[in-house]
Amino acid sequence: MHPVIIDTDTAQDDCVTILLGLLDPACDLRAVTMVAGNVTFERQVHNAAMTLSVAGKLGEVPLHLGCDRPMMRPWVSAEDVHGDGSGGLSMEFDESVVDPKHGVDALIDAVNAEPGEISIVAIGPLTNIATAVVKDRSFASKVKSLYVMGGSNNGRGNVTPSAEFNFYVDPEAAQIVMDAGFKDLKIVTWDPVTLVDATYSREDYNNLCRFKTPIGKFFRRVCDATLDFNESVGVMGSTHPDSITLGALLHPELVLQEGSYRVDVECQSTLTRGFSAMAWDKYDLEPNATVFEKLDGQAFYRILEGILATETQPSREIEGL
Ligand code: RIB
Ligand code: CA
Repeated sequence: MHPVIIDTDTAQDDCVTILLGLLDPACDLRAVTMVAGNVTFERQVHNAAMTLSVAGKLGEVPLHLGCDRPMMRPWVSAEDVHGDGSGGLSMEFDESVVDPKHGVDALIDAVNAEPGEISIVAIGPLTNIATAVVKDRSFASKVKSLYVMGGSNNGRGNVTPSAEFNFYVDPEAAQIVMDAGFKDLKIVTWDPVTLVDATYSREDYNNLCRFKTPIGKFFRRVCDATLDFNESVGVMGSTHPDSITLGALLHPELVLQEGSYRVDVECQSTLTRGFSAMAWDKYDLEPNATVFEKLDGQAFYRILEGILATETQPSREIEGL
């Protein structure tokens, strides 16, 4: 089993990632840490709590609040993409749902308690990870693996023509992480990997939605809005960049092709803010990351089917489900 902490801006596929972390036998999900990203911070926390609840795990896996805005810049919303991130679902909510330890301290304390054992899957802006690096200069050296969803590999952005959302929202944090010296930094990009290997057509998505389990019904509710948005901008399917990032850690057989790259993030330019410069070996630069170039999207689809078929007893009633 892989001891994992998921750092997330919980909306849509972030929810699916948490479900995978909770229900995949290969994952020992130690904590969920919240970072500012997709939708309002409060709504993200609610989305994460509902996700834990629908899996029947509310209170079993600690939910920590991390940085509620980027390091230097105003927050940027993706509510146009995801709506509220959970299709209007709601659940009774109280302070007991959240662990009082700050998300950054939870990350630091976890890796100091078990150096070299804990992997982190960062599927939102990298504000928490960068803050942990700045606060504890030994942090990067004690993380077993850092799997990041972010950037594009010499391809299209999604929030601007040149930038993927997670790197765009907090480019300074992303650059701090690229420079931090993580021993095993692996990156799932928007283009090409998400667009080619982790985008399922509406027909395949509807087939995924066939499961009438609480998890299956929750999946459709949290993913519908993003699918509609995607099709409106020419991305013809349901996108799952975050969940396949955890999938690649838990199931290395999903990795069909990867390369060693020097990755840097544009922080100065307004036009190309958040652009990920990914230099392959031709450029003879010291590599800092492994960038996945091809993942087995069909095998991951079957993993998702197994998760969505899982019967669970939700911890609390989720209204609208
Ligand atoms: O660009 C896609 C990424 O940004 C996904 O992680 C999505 O959830 C948002 O965080
Ligand atoms: Ca995300």
